[in-house]
Amino acid sequence: MSLLITNISELVTNAPLEAVSVASPGPFEAIADAAIVLDAGRVVWTGRSAEAPAADEVVDAAGRAVLPGFVDSHAHLVFAGERGAEFAARMAGLPYSAGGIRSTVAATRAASDDELRSNLAVLAREMLAQGTTTFECKSGYGLTVADEARSVTLAGEVTPEVTYLGAHVVPPEFSGDATRYVDLVCGEMLAACAPSAKWVDVFCEEGAFGADEARAVLAAGEAAGLQPRIHANQLGPGPGVQVAVEAGAAAADHCTFLSDADVDALAASGGTVATLLPGVEFSTRSPYPDARRLLRAGVTVAIASDCNPGSCFTSSMPLCVALAVREMRMTTAEAVWAATAGGAHALRRTDVGHLGVGARADLIMLNGPSHAYLAYRPGVPLIAGVWRSGERVA
Ligand code: NIG
Ligand code: FE
Repeated sequence: MSLLITNISELVTNAPLEAVSVASPGPFEAIADAAIVLDAGRVVWTGRSAEAPAADEVVDAAGRAVLPGFVDSHAHLVFAGERGAEFAARMAGLPYSAGGIRSTVAATRAASDDELRSNLAVLAREMLAQGTTTFECKSGYGLTVADEARSVTLAGEVTPEVTYLGAHVVPPEFSGDATRYVDLVCGEMLAACAPSAKWVDVFCEEGAFGADEARAVLAAGEAAGLQPRIHANQLGPGPGVQVAVEAGAAAADHCTFLSDADVDALAASGGTVATLLPGVEFSTRSPYPDARRLLRAGVTVAIASDCNPGSCFTSSMPLCVALAVREMRMTTAEAVWAATAGGAHALRRTDVGHLGVGARADLIMLNGPSHAYLAYRPGVPLIAGVWRSGERVA
């Protein structure tokens, strides 16, 4: 069954109009007065409404914009409990610290599989309703062999983009013996998690893991068949970005505190994406990094939610786009590209993040005539429809 969506005021494709098929996301591209045809879960045609071919079914977009579904390349969704009081205390003046993670670890360990599964389902539904059609999901609130293994297994029930984050923080029972914990993360815990994960991640930060520990975790993960990504330079300047580039990581995430050498290293990396997480700066009242500095240097920039119960409990990519535009000085086109194609690059995916012919038919319709509405009308529910693999899902 083919589906034609027509009368689209602006169709953001991130793909050249004249291409017969598109093998990966390109730069920001949009077609005015456009239409798109989906068939068998793929995009099969894009162009001007007036030239659209016939299809089995027709949807009239009535002058709305259509965009690729958001690709949220950074989220921590396997957890129990909440930290609303910690957020309120922060807004009253307390600083954010990595230590809060341990309270979620205790709640997660105490939760049943079904509780974790139903929390995950709620968040996955929330994301879909806000236009996220691909998302990554990390472990990292279990921190025992059994709890990390169940976290990656549960994550795998909702997404193929599963990340093993045994190296989130040193859990209390290993307090004062980080070396022994890193051995566990690189040994028995990794062996239990690697079969259910695609990525390995480490929180490289003061209060979490240092550069040598991060290198060891990423190298062990790679030896077990996982691909590296990293939490870097969130709470202050540090070695995270350099470790990411050395390791050939797909992405260095946060990048809140960058030196010129960090920016240069990302620009020269030829493949390490800088993933900005504006919801974290918002929710921890931290200074926003300047996306222009990265873009000027030629760094590939993604935007993701970092949805987690501590540093940022939003699953809303539209909010993140609006914050990136307003607070990180991105243009509306750059921010939308970073939240779609940028996320695809950060997950090394070529089938999503764009609507070129051949792409997976993951798309959203906005209640508004252009992509700019995501930042122009912040906080307004703008997602009028979501299709995933060609099926209308929201
Ligand atoms: O990406 N930085 C480390 N991990 C999460 C925070 C987790 C938490 O506070 O529970 C982050 O911000
Ligand atoms: Fe994170």
